[in-house]
Amino acid sequence: MNHTDNHLNRREFLNRSSKLVFAASTLSMTGRNSDAQAKGKKKLKVALVGTGVRGTSTWGKSLVAAYPNELEMVGLCDINPKRVEYARSYIGVNAPTFAAKDFDKMIAQTGPDAVIITTPDCFHAKYAVRAMELGCDAISEKALATEAEQCQALLDTELKSGKKIITTFNVRHMNSAEEIKKILMSGELGRIISAEFYEYLDIYHGASYFRRWHGKARFSGTLLVHKASHHFDQMNWSLDAEPVEVNAYGKVAFYGKNHSFRARNCRSCPFKEKCEFYWDITKSKRDMDLYVKCEDADGYLRDGCVWDNEIDTYDSMTVEVKYNNGVLLSYTLNAFLPYEGQRIAFNGEKGRLDVRLYNRQPWKVEYNAEFRLTKNFRSTKTWQLKPGSGGHGGADEKLKDMLFRPNQPDPLGKMAGSRAGVMSSIIGIAAGKSIETGERVKIADLVDFPRVWQW
Ligand SMILES: NC(=O)c1ccc[n+]([C@@H]2O[C@H](COP(=O)([O-])OP(=O)(O)OC[C@H]3O[C@@H](n4cnc5c(N)ncnc54)[C@H](O)[C@@H]3O)[C@@H](O)[C@H]2O)c1
Repeated sequence: MNHTDNHLNRREFLNRSSKLVFAASTLSMTGRNSDAQAKGKKKLKVALVGTGVRGTSTWGKSLVAAYPNELEMVGLCDINPKRVEYARSYIGVNAPTFAAKDFDKMIAQTGPDAVIITTPDCFHAKYAVRAMELGCDAISEKALATEAEQCQALLDTELKSGKKIITTFNVRHMNSAEEIKKILMSGELGRIISAEFYEYLDIYHGASYFRRWHGKARFSGTLLVHKASHHFDQMNWSLDAEPVEVNAYGKVAFYGKNHSFRARNCRSCPFKEKCEFYWDITKSKRDMDLYVKCEDADGYLRDGCVWDNEIDTYDSMTVEVKYNNGVLLSYTLNAFLPYEGQRIAFNGEKGRLDVRLYNRQPWKVEYNAEFRLTKNFRSTKTWQLKPGSGGHGGADEKLKDMLFRPNQPDPLGKMAGSRAGVMSSIIGIAAGKSIETGERVKIADLVDFPRVWQW
């Protein structure tokens, strides 16, 4: 890959992205909707595949409640026939339900303009590709893909079909992420030379990934893809850069085999009294309705054992990324810590930006994010931010407004398409390959980006 050309493509991408989002929305998403509303025509028709917790909440119940004039949920699809029926009543719609094998039938019968994809990560690309082949736009949760071949199929199908992929990177809409982006865009730090991103997942949130499908690499692509795709996208976007080379280490050092006893799941566990990670799912009505009452249909255990011998998703990992603008990123993720948060930093030729996010810790903190901007040979200043209200600090609502409310300005370029979706997933995929082979991995050896315009 020619890095200079690639960089130009990226610049072109950013210059054009907000216009394209607007253009895309005028055709099939937000704007068409506003035109339709203005002319008293029909609402945007959306179908949902993957009716689990994210699908039924953010992209289900709260979506249809917030946009009654803008969109209509026309179909629901899931591999679990009981869960998809529960989803219909929980979301509160009359949309017909479909089995996963009848995805094509759902599209044919309900004619959606866009399909929202909230299945486990390994199936996102399959449904996005098929949705586009059948004439729909695809709105996919992160991670957009878990394998390099999926990335290629997504890019190629988008180009061939003329349909669009939107990757729902809600992190870009968080107050702290917006603040970082504004500082970097201001040029106050000068040219950025290197960056640091340290993700701390605690023994509650971190462990939750190892109780279910995320703990198996074949479903999640490991946390390097499932979780870190948020962080890699944030860094790609903040730095206005694309990755060229990745080196990584990772291991399952805490969960999985690293324990003296284990069971199938918490409910059936003979070690309830002595396991510090015992979690009683029966205390949550929502989890009982969504998962436990549907268990016999597909065997999906939401309270699986964190000590399962088959866990192969790394719980400790470190990644180095070289970007096409020369920036070197140092990244770590640990999923078994006593507190939760992040430490992010940018080292520029004129100074350094330090950001500390406090999500959950045993000491009291009045704010969510602390910023420190230090200029070379000059003073330093600090300030704090509080999170907005709503899902993920209000980020979920801001993202949905941008998607479904007409004429939203996007000066920071927060809308993300297929290229951004692929660029974040591919860092995690490359990191996985680097861990397996012990070699540095070049992004250009994994994906061939079409030379024509891609948003
Ligand atoms: N952006 C965010 O902040 C955020 C937060 C949570 C989850 N997510 C994403 O949402 C997605 C779903 O996560 P979740 O926590 O809701 O998981 P979940 O396990 O609650 O739901 C997954 C659903 O997909 C269904 N499913 C499994 N295989 C399928 C298949 N082949 N075809 C159709 N349906 C299938 C399951 O039956 C289940 O209903 C993931 O991609 C995850 O990364 C994003």
